[in-house]
Amino acid sequence: MPSSQSCFWTKVFLLYEEKSYGRKEIGMRHNLEKIRDEAIENISKVKDLEHLERLRLKYLGKKGELTRILRGMGDLPAEERPIMGRLANEVRTLIQVQLDKRRKELEEKLLEYRLREETIDVTVPGKKIERGNLHPLTSVCNEIAAIFIGMGFEVVEGPDVELEYYNFEALNIPESHPSRDVQDTFYITDEILLRTHTSPVQVRTMEEKDPPIKIIVPGRVYRSDDVDATHSPIFHQIEGLVVDENITMADLKGVLDVFVKELFGERTQTKFRPHYFPFTEPSMEVDATCVTCGGKGCRVCSDTGWIEILGAGMVHPNVLKYGGIDPDRYSGFAFGLGLDRIANLKYGIDDIRLLYENDIRFLRQF
Ligand code: PHE
Repeated sequence: MPSSQSCFWTKVFLLYEEKSYGRKEIGMRHNLEKIRDEAIENISKVKDLEHLERLRLKYLGKKGELTRILRGMGDLPAEERPIMGRLANEVRTLIQVQLDKRRKELEEKLLEYRLREETIDVTVPGKKIERGNLHPLTSVCNEIAAIFIGMGFEVVEGPDVELEYYNFEALNIPESHPSRDVQDTFYITDEILLRTHTSPVQVRTMEEKDPPIKIIVPGRVYRSDDVDATHSPIFHQIEGLVVDENITMADLKGVLDVFVKELFGERTQTKFRPHYFPFTEPSMEVDATCVTCGGKGCRVCSDTGWIEILGAGMVHPNVLKYGGIDPDRYSGFAFGLGLDRIANLKYGIDDIRLLYENDIRFLRQF
């Protein structure tokens, strides 16, 4: 259609509208249509979500063009308001539909772009996360505990700051006993001290529960020793205690032999040497064939082929009595091993001080 003609018909239409609606309505109707057409065109051209949002505000926002027109509705004659209102709503819905459609398109494009551009190069070497590791004492303690747990033992703990009563008295070490000199320690008062071994937990446990008792007690112990390659005022022990009816030395030997073989290997042999402890009778020290030379003799075992692993014995009847257990009915065995020494043997560490200096270069090796 030639443009002059189009113009002509438009005029006729406008005249017709002017007659049936009046000038204000026509103005408003045209504004709405103009907004609608312009919005549709702009929305279709927009290239990203940010601009799309700006368009949404421009047309549909609180301060947007459509809202402004709707505010002018008050000036219309009452009968025209619903008609204009409907038209305005139609325009609003139409714009909203276009906005949603375009948003979806743009989001899909963005996703496509990201999938294409942000792919992960799986051949690039990863960033290494620095990982700590357990202290050798902790690893050895866990390992030993696992062996005894496997034999049905329960892990219990006792206080580092201990009563003189549990550390000495109840273990059959009266005040005059020379054994107290060997285990000199740090006294907090006359009755309170830092425990010199994990043995006080024997009586503490007996007081608390009835046989059968089958426990191990890992923990820190203290002695007033001068520091050198084999002595430290703080070190670690694991205590073991079994109390039940008919416990004999065969049980003690069997359990400890299994333990040593599990810890150092099936071919390790054990030797039980008579010894003395006030809280066990009979008492013994247990040696194992040297972990380094296998028994041939070397620097580690001072050419003897044997290394001392732990102290043990049958629980002294007096100790059972201190724990409130009838020695005529029950018997038991106990043992105590030095964790630091075993860790050193296992890892070939020749100076106990290394375990306490917290030098990260040393600790990282385990
Ligand atoms: N408590 C003893 C020590 O520290 C070790 C031990 C424990 C010996 C239990 C016998 C029985 O030397």
